[in-house]
Amino acid sequence: MRILVTGAGGMLGTDLCRQLREKGHEITATDVLAGKDGILRLDVACFEDVQNIVAQYKPEAVFHLAAETDVDLCEQKPDYAYQANAFGTENIALVCRQLNLMLVYISTAGVFDGEKSEPYIEFDEPRPVNVYGRTKLAGEKAVQQFVERYFIFRAGWMIGGWVIDKKFVRKIIQQILQGNRIIRAVNDKFGCPTFTADFAKNLTEVVLAGRFGLYHLCGQGSCSRYEVACKIVDLMRCNDRVMVEPVSSSIFPLPAIRPRSEIMRNYKLDLIGLNYMPFWDKALEKYIESHLAREQTSAFG
Ligand SMILES: NC(=O)c1ccc[n+]([C@@H]2O[C@H](COP(=O)([O-])OP(=O)(O)OC[C@H]3O[C@@H](n4cnc5c(N)ncnc54)[C@H](OP(=O)(O)O)[C@@H]3O)[C@@H](O)[C@H]2O)c1
Repeated sequence: MRILVTGAGGMLGTDLCRQLREKGHEITATDVLAGKDGILRLDVACFEDVQNIVAQYKPEAVFHLAAETDVDLCEQKPDYAYQANAFGTENIALVCRQLNLMLVYISTAGVFDGEKSEPYIEFDEPRPVNVYGRTKLAGEKAVQQFVERYFIFRAGWMIGGWVIDKKFVRKIIQQILQGNRIIRAVNDKFGCPTFTADFAKNLTEVVLAGRFGLYHLCGQGSCSRYEVACKIVDLMRCNDRVMVEPVSSSIFPLPAIRPRSEIMRNYKLDLIGLNYMPFWDKALEKYIESHLAREQTSAFG
């Protein structure tokens, strides 16, 4: 299949493009900045640019990953966030509608308010508490309104990318590598870490099965940020020199409110037998161990 991927240079895009190419698909990889591996420049906020690239490369499907994922930046610059995430997705959806293309859109557990005590399922009402969540939900609505053949996958806390990761896991790894002896991590925010490689693989299976619709797709099980940090320290074998201190999120005042719970269940995929996501701690183990092994090989090789 000929597939246009937006946000291809990001954490998820890197794994997804690799997997799709390995399966023999013809990929036009794009991002807001042109980059390595032949990534072409496409700012999804520009409708004409979206139209032009689709006219030029004639994809049969668009996998739309591009988004401003910095939750605090979205809060501080809401116009920019709505341009990138809401209008960006609307632009993609409108072009898919014009040409009857299949659209795969990546959304987030951050569309929920976080107050539910049970895991969120696809039939729960979204009620975002910050600008990022609102812009991603606006993207979902545009996809549902304009596109006939669509998939929406809501991801949990993404793990992946190693050096290009700008999120929590990389921040903890960096603190360890910098020799910090005490790492503080919040124990009152909960979610489902989601390894990009597993996410990309499971997503592809669902798309190939042709089961259009909206799905939750996150790592199984759930945890706090504190538990993730403890697991990373464990996997990097530095328990003897690094202590993880559990703290309340109130000691890190941030521009954007975070929902208390971003725990989801892949309920629909469970019901149709297409949930292949592993438990988050096993996925984190696979991710960290493979990268540590690669770094050691390159250091000695
Ligand atoms: N990371 C998470 O924890 C998480 C959780 C749930 C859902 N998601 C969703 O998963 C998708 C993939 O995110 P990711 O984790 O791979 O994050 P990422 O590494 O930040 O990737 C997103 C990519 O989109 C690019 N981008 C930003 N604005 C753009 C624009 N206007 N036009 C084109 N490209 C633009 C970014 O470029 P710059 O880096 O230069 O801004 C980045 O390369 C996103 O839709 C995100 O909302 C992410």
